[in-house]
Amino acid sequence: MSLQKKDDYDHKAWLKEKDLTPVETTFLTALIWLDKRFRIVDYLELLETLYYRVNLQMPKSHTEQYDLDNKFWYWYPLYTLGFFSTLAYVVAAISGALLGFYYTPSAVGGAAGEATAAYDQIAFIMTDLQFGFMLRSIHRWSAQVMTAAVFLHMLRVYFTGAYKEPRELNWLLGIVLISLTMVFGYTGYLLPWDQLAFWAGQIGVEMSLSIPLVGEWVAQLIFGGFSLGPSTLIRMYILHVFLLPFVVTSLIAIHIGIVWVQGIAEPH
Ligand code: HEM
Repeated sequence: MSLQKKDDYDHKAWLKEKDLTPVETTFLTALIWLDKRFRIVDYLELLETLYYRVNLQMPKSHTEQYDLDNKFWYWYPLYTLGFFSTLAYVVAAISGALLGFYYTPSAVGGAAGEATAAYDQIAFIMTDLQFGFMLRSIHRWSAQVMTAAVFLHMLRVYFTGAYKEPRELNWLLGIVLISLTMVFGYTGYLLPWDQLAFWAGQIGVEMSLSIPLVGEWVAQLIFGGFSLGPSTLIRMYILHVFLLPFVVTSLIAIHIGIVWVQGIAEPH
């Protein structure tokens, strides 16, 4: 399709010729006004062509091919645990993004017996911020529900034999997802920088140090040193709010995309 010039056509005369209602005239005038300036009709056509091209190339989903929505087992409630995990993830992501407006990842100031900025901000969210208590609770609960749902989802996949051929890859992707879900939980747990966070961090450092040969290097990389400090908190923060959301969202999309193509497995 070519994007030719539009202003050599007399739209006003064309509109007058037609026997249109005022609503139709207003709509078409607005459309023509926009089209003359932004060529929106051309771009809409382009989008339409693209839509049909992509859809023609998509394979028919397994569900469509075998008419699965009409089978009883397809609607078994335990088959929705993956969807439930996704839902909990979305709630955690939205509430987390809102918490991000009020949280500060700074462990500076803790040494002299004062609270750190991170801890202070959590206290602010819990006591002073309107709906802050609720927002933080929604974030913590959805994160915990997600962990439980992902685990139960894995059990359902195992006990219905859904990991077998041809779904091995999605099972492996699932292993990565459950691991990242736990890393999400762990990094988030450290962010309030309270006693629980500090000692959980200490356990993490010691676990890293216990790895043969590369232990010290791993502790340095993940925790920013062998004892906890501001660089630990900033690493947890970057992992929690920057790296993991992008990686996990992409992997969930691929995971669900594969389910869309392969369909839900029949119980074996
Ligand atoms: C963030 C975590 C996860 C999300 C959001 C997620 C999401 C989903 C969704 C929406 C489905 C469609 C069927 C259903 O709802 O049960 C599904 C299917 C599947 N998931 Fe997950 N999943 C996650 C973790 C896992 C884990 C930990 C495993 C296993 C190690 C796994 C392996 C599979 C497999 C093999 C299927 C295909 C099941 C079938 O065809 O019946 N997933 N997942």
